[in-house]
Amino acid sequence: MKRLVDSEKSDELDNYDQTIRPQSLEEYVGQTEIKENLEVFIKACKMRDEVLDHVLLYGPPGLGKTTLAHIIANEMGANIRTATGPSIEKSGDLAAILSTLEQGDVLFIDEIHRIPRFIEEILYPAMEDFVLDIVIANGDGTSRNLRIDLPPFTLVGATTRAGDISSPLRDRFGIVSKLNYYNEEELFKIIRRTSKVLNMPIDDEAAKELARRSRKTPRLANRLFKRVRDFALVFGSDVIDEEIMKIALKRLNVDSSGLDQIDKEYLEALITKFNGGPVGAATVATSIGEEVTTIEDVVEPYLLQEGFIKRTPRGRVACPKAYKHLNIEYVSEN
Ligand SMILES: Nc1ncnc2c1ncn2[C@@H]1O[C@H](COP(=O)(O)OP(=O)(O)O)[C@@H](O)[C@H]1O
Ligand SMILES: [Mg+2]
Repeated sequence: MKRLVDSEKSDELDNYDQTIRPQSLEEYVGQTEIKENLEVFIKACKMRDEVLDHVLLYGPPGLGKTTLAHIIANEMGANIRTATGPSIEKSGDLAAILSTLEQGDVLFIDEIHRIPRFIEEILYPAMEDFVLDIVIANGDGTSRNLRIDLPPFTLVGATTRAGDISSPLRDRFGIVSKLNYYNEEELFKIIRRTSKVLNMPIDDEAAKELARRSRKTPRLANRLFKRVRDFALVFGSDVIDEEIMKIALKRLNVDSSGLDQIDKEYLEALITKFNGGPVGAATVATSIGEEVTTIEDVVEPYLLQEGFIKRTPRGRVACPKAYKHLNIEYVSEN
């Protein structure tokens, strides 16, 4: 079964998603500190009639980075332009985006860590002084530099890998925010909201159950909600109750801790094939036929945060909690 949390593209293609996505800071659940700070910064910018400082959002997938980028633009009353790191392959790609920005625009670059280093350098003067330095070939083998003024704009960068961002780039963001996993109350709120938006009632117990099993991740909560809704529809129920929730989650292979198929395969491989580690992420990934980036960006952050595994200089190690979860006897090395 394909993991439910990793594919953002299918979210974007989903008609409902635009409405499920909160449009304002007020509707955005949780991340209180980030939200409260942004509120102040945005208000101050408006009072000074300036653009917002550049914002870097980082954290595991599905926690609301893209949503927040759009909200920042909404709250600033600005137009948003979007690009992704992997789509910027040549200097010209980035120059083309920057040179068409208008005053006050929010430029959202998702997966910003994937911009090649030599192109990234174009961003430094653009962010710092709102200028674009380009090199123009003269045709006779020589070249000249051209400097173009850009209108003030706000760059919002998002990444799942803060560690992969060079420090010169990182230093040019005035606001750097780490998104955290959500607690059950926050997920409960998000699920209630989704239920209203999709016009499919869910009772409190069922919503709590879903909140517990959503890997502390809003994208997954919403994704599961939609699938459970399918079960309710087919079973002829006009409300999602605990019974339907349990049947659906079982069929979707989501266990009581919210771990799904890939999480379980990963832990099982770590314990049974590699003796609990230490072992490199790439080795475990290969052994279960997954991309190492999926393992590192999606699977591991949650397992680390929940104490199923830990990172050591020699590789990943399974913790007693993982053994317990899989019903395997834990034998300590020492
Ligand atoms: N704070 C939040 N409140 C309500 N819904 C949220 C929140 N954060 C994320 N979501 C929901 O989760 C989905 C995934 O969020 P997204 O912004 O795409 O995550 P990311 O860009 O970090 O991978 C969105 O479609 C949105 O509906
Ligand atoms: Mg995103």
